[in-house]
Amino acid sequence: MVQATPFLLVLFLALGAHGLQGTQQCSLTGRWVNDLGSNMTITSVNANGVFAGSYHTAVTATSNEIKLSPLHGAMQKSPNQKGQPTFGFTVNWSFSDSITVFTGQCFVDEYGKEILKTMWLLRSRVENIKNDWKATRVGINVFTRLQSQE
Ligand code: BTN
Repeated sequence: MVQATPFLLVLFLALGAHGLQGTQQCSLTGRWVNDLGSNMTITSVNANGVFAGSYHTAVTATSNEIKLSPLHGAMQKSPNQKGQPTFGFTVNWSFSDSITVFTGQCFVDEYGKEILKTMWLLRSRVENIKNDWKATRVGINVFTRLQSQE
């Protein structure tokens, strides 16, 4: 009995920790704001992980007037995602010749807050192949959920 106690304690802690991890569920659906002040809405994610929404960027590399732009993406649905799924989406800018792809992961932080850690590539259109070298920007964006104002 004395020998079994530490074993049972370890088993209990392991199962407890596993149980807690199981409660972390990060959902892509909803309204998000990033570190630049850009707003994104993901309307719904279907059973295959395919989603759509809209993106309002706070900044632009152009001199064009910023307009709401559509986004299309996919979330990884494998069981290994454990509630913190990886995903990717494309924003097809409605006011410029450019396109941006984002890739990232939906995390639940230590306070239970959902956070999207992403990297992006912004491809601008250039006039000819000689200018291809300067056509792609790269960066990081961090998104947090916009709290709904009721
Ligand atoms: C353009 O300037 O041609 C389109 C807008 C690009 C906005 C970029 S995409 C990556 C970064 N994250 C944002 O929220 N906005 C900028």
